[in-house]
Amino acid sequence: MTDSRPILFFDSGVGGLSVLAPTARLLPQAPLVYVADSAGFPYGTRSEAEIAARVPALLGRLAERYDPRLIVIACNTASTIALQHVRAALDVPIVGTVPAIKPAAERSRTRVIGVLGTDATVRQPYVDDLAARFAADCTVIRHGSAELVELAEAALGGERPSIATVRDALAGLLSQDRAGEIDVIVNACTHFPLIQDALESAIGGKVSFIDGGAGIARRVAYLTAGQQWPEPISGRAVFTARSARTDKLAPALARFGLVEVETL
Ligand code: DGL
Repeated sequence: MTDSRPILFFDSGVGGLSVLAPTARLLPQAPLVYVADSAGFPYGTRSEAEIAARVPALLGRLAERYDPRLIVIACNTASTIALQHVRAALDVPIVGTVPAIKPAAERSRTRVIGVLGTDATVRQPYVDDLAARFAADCTVIRHGSAELVELAEAALGGERPSIATVRDALAGLLSQDRAGEIDVIVNACTHFPLIQDALESAIGGKVSFIDGGAGIARRVAYLTAGQQWPEPISGRAVFTARSARTDKLAPALARFGLVEVETL
């Protein structure tokens, strides 16, 4: 008996592809559906109430339509605000994406860590809690950037960001007290690993970046261990609204194995 139910990845935009990629490498036979809530993008400048209402309702519709075996909320903003609501509402295993503060604290020698996310993510009590539990002896410097999210979307559409633009977007992090001592930056937004080369060039020096992609892939593999997979089928990308911007993404989506593209 094969089981054709997909693993469904969800984000506001293309950022969740940085989570899908390591999972696809680990589980090459898994059927994948990638959903970008392009009608709700960006999430990082929205209120908690908007995210908490929108994400569980949309995932409910998506679960009905695609019958996933597991859902990965490949978005830190949606996970830090709505993970509990989604888990309460749906009878499907849900894996969230939350800032990788624990491994960052394990790696940091200077004990000064940067957390780079969206405005909504960096102000969440969820992040206070992670910092208190896993990085209590570190200085945790946070910065939210909507501009980096836009730059990552554009990069997937083929427009590489200039290093000067990325440096400007990082000014709010690097101008904070003790920022010169940061040796590890948490990519606390799934869009940012997509432009990590540019981030590294803009920061220079000996700062390393960390994100949750590989850990999530291992978690998905663990939760689906022993399950049956269908014959290989191409992945599917789903947008909640179609536009010139989403149309430009088709070649990049195909590079991630997402050949079918549809609108919800
Ligand atoms: N990729 C998302 C995250 O991880 C949010 C980007 C946005 O829509 O602002 O937080």
